Amino acid sequence: MDRPAGTVLVTGGAGFIGSNLVRHLISRGDVPVVTLDKLTYAGNRLNLGDVLDNPRHVFVEGDIADDTLVARLLQTHAVGAVINLAAETHVDRSIRSPAAFVQTNVVGTLNLLEQAHLYWQRLPPSAREMFRFVHVSTDEVYGSLGRADPAFTEASPYAPNSPYAASKAGADYLVRAFHHTYGLPTLTTNCSNNYGPRQFPEKLIPLMILNALKGERLPIYGDGQNVRDWLYVGDHCQALLRVLEAGTIGETYVVGGSGELTNCEVVGMICEMLDEMHPVGKRGSYREQIAFVPDRAGHDRRYAMNAGKLRKELGWMPETNFREGLRRTVRWYLENPQWVRDVQTPEYRQWIATQYGARTSA
Ligand code: NAD
Ligand code: TYD
Repeated sequence: MDRPAGTVLVTGGAGFIGSNLVRHLISRGDVPVVTLDKLTYAGNRLNLGDVLDNPRHVFVEGDIADDTLVARLLQTHAVGAVINLAAETHVDRSIRSPAAFVQTNVVGTLNLLEQAHLYWQRLPPSAREMFRFVHVSTDEVYGSLGRADPAFTEASPYAPNSPYAASKAGADYLVRAFHHTYGLPTLTTNCSNNYGPRQFPEKLIPLMILNALKGERLPIYGDGQNVRDWLYVGDHCQALLRVLEAGTIGETYVVGGSGELTNCEVVGMICEMLDEMHPVGKRGSYREQIAFVPDRAGHDRRYAMNAGKLRKELGWMPETNFREGLRRTVRWYLENPQWVRDVQTPEYRQWIATQYGARTSA
């Protein structure tokens, strides 16, 4: 890897995408990595596995909104790049409690930008030129597409609909402003829905796999015809590394899987794979556990991403087709019952009871 010159500071590195990215960074290159993570309900040291003790990796428990801590980490570890993944990420939680989303996603990102700016200004010219701040955002900032609309591109206007999307949009605007106003070398990525190992089981795919195995109902919101553009997490990590290495400063890159599917199609495929890999026996198919439940408030109908710029300028293409990636994911959850037990804390059970009501059995 040509870039970065210096340590990579990964925020949110104990979460789903962050932990996969830290693993990529450690296995691929020779750069030192510092993970900064607050270890909220969604973060877990176990996600980092062996990498936690790798001599090139330092794990720090802390908040991206802590100015003293962030300033110290940048300085002490001679950071050459920041990749910001720390965030509150679940739309349903943002509908119930939006304040935490503004605190971490907006105020926390502002603090990272301010500390990075102060640090970057004082670097010697060669290090200043090499420094990068990569901000990881989402397709949800663009709002919802109609059935026949073309996919979102970097030129699509922002139209966030959920408190989560609004808080990510706020962060994206701050990143843009720090580049425009102060010249901070930022890059922003807007990615579609990820799936893969170690995703917290509040999100659609792991929730459905684990509910199916527990014999509980598979709660599909509304009519189940909402469309998401699914990308395997490893492909997202490759895109982030390409942007870090070769992206143009100040630019935004859309990342997506060209993997549009309705929620009914996704849940149907999970049931089909589980029927084959972990049959329920006389009970029939896992499909019998599917239950249509009241819709999410303000539920975006369709997301789709056109990643043409990333392909043309940086040569990135997703490598994993959805069926293959989903099979790998289902197998991972089947083979890691200890991880599943560890993340299902009393807080998690409380969330499930609040969100879906006491009745969960199929
Ligand atoms: P996640 O919820 O699995 O992990 C988020 C991590 O951030 C957790 O480890 C959590 O402990 C940590 N964190 C939260 N608040 C923090 C704070 N104040 N300080 C430090 N750490 C904090 O999320 P994810 O799915 O891995 O998403 C990572 C990033 O990618 C987010 O910025 C998200 O908006 C973006 N993104 C996610 C998807 C997706 O489908 N999962 C798609 C596009 C973009
Ligand atoms: P989710 O994984 O929460 O991601 P996002 O809201 O960021 O797209 O949800 C993916 C889709 O699945 C979305 O259309 C909402 C739907 N969904 C359900 O139908 N039932 C559920 O229990 C959950 C969590 C999501």
